[in-house]
Amino acid sequence: MLVANGEHDVLVMAEAGETQDLILSAAAAQDVPTRIVGLEDLVQGWRAAELVFIGADEAERVAGQALPPRDQVFLVGRDPEVLTTWSAPLGARVIALPQGAAWLGAVLAGGGTGPRRAPVVAVLGGSGGVGASTLAATLACLGARRQPSALVDTDLTGGGIDLLLGAEQSGGWRWPRLSGAEGHVGELRRYLPVVEGVSLVSMARGPTPDLAREPLAAIIGSLRRGHGLVILDPGRALTQAARESSRLASQVVLVVHACVRGVAAAREVLRTHQPEGAVALLRRAGPGVSASMVADALGIEVVGSLPQDGRLPGAAERGEPPTRSGKAYRRACEEVLTLVGGGHE
Ligand SMILES: Nc1ncnc2c1ncn2[C@@H]1O[C@H](COP(=O)(O)OP(=O)(O)OP(=O)(O)O)[C@@H](O)[C@H]1O
Ligand SMILES: [Mg+2]
Repeated sequence: MLVANGEHDVLVMAEAGETQDLILSAAAAQDVPTRIVGLEDLVQGWRAAELVFIGADEAERVAGQALPPRDQVFLVGRDPEVLTTWSAPLGARVIALPQGAAWLGAVLAGGGTGPRRAPVVAVLGGSGGVGASTLAATLACLGARRQPSALVDTDLTGGGIDLLLGAEQSGGWRWPRLSGAEGHVGELRRYLPVVEGVSLVSMARGPTPDLAREPLAAIIGSLRRGHGLVILDPGRALTQAARESSRLASQVVLVVHACVRGVAAAREVLRTHQPEGAVALLRRAGPGVSASMVADALGIEVVGSLPQDGRLPGAAERGEPPTRSGKAYRRACEEVLTLVGGGHE
């Protein structure tokens, strides 16, 4: 592994073993150089480092240094009690193993060397109407409270995600205008409708454009340069654009209706999209189908569930941002945001 010094450092302080191995292999997969440090080097590099990972086994020693608070510190380990005890004193976000392992890559994708590359998160629905677009819009709106974010609708049959945010009357470019783009597309934000701090790349009502691979990749690349977070809503139609969206994403989140048919449908979505490192969130989780059953059936981690929120359907009808939902739903979305690396400045 390369050794980096200075402001783009990714510091890892964890004893040799599972936690350290997982962090290093996630970093290697993202091609992000890391530096394994002892206490002295950690203290020295604390302010300037881009990301800091602390293994739970080292948490107490680090906390003993009473270092000044900073962003982008992650406490990684297995023991929930240790994680809870030390996350506040360290000002650290928690990555609980084993289920959080899938998020290490997402955190690293948002914090590697060089100019920070915005995470690209595709939100897939495991079955129809399960809340994927609502989650996508909420993540984008919450992310925009900290940094410019973008929401990209690649759902050819979804009716336009601008409707969900009440932006159908807002001026600015939509897909048909953008679909001629190739290669480097300049700073896009000024051409797009911006709602609640979210730049929207939406379908227009009318003939559907052919979002072949090139424009999609070029537009996502451009959005990634000008925003801190890019959320994709590929929808349920098995189009090339939808499959391409999950391929271009640094993280795929699959919303699964926690029932037998919902899981069976989600399995088909995974089979057709074949996303790398997808994680699942449950909707309408009842007593019948547990998170571990879903994880076993799908072969991916279940990282949480989305609470039922009776305000969301009405808000969507009125074109009000889904962030005006109840606290529990918002909190669940904030957690997802943190884990995909969009929850920081
Ligand atoms: N957590 C929730 N609680 C209650 N209602 C919700 C929740 N999430 C979404 N909804 C509602 O469910 C309906 C479908 O949501 P949404 O359009 O986000 O689903 P989708 O998975 O994108 O659907 P599609 O398959 O059509 O793309 C909407 O009325 C939305 O407001
Ligand atoms: Mg949808």
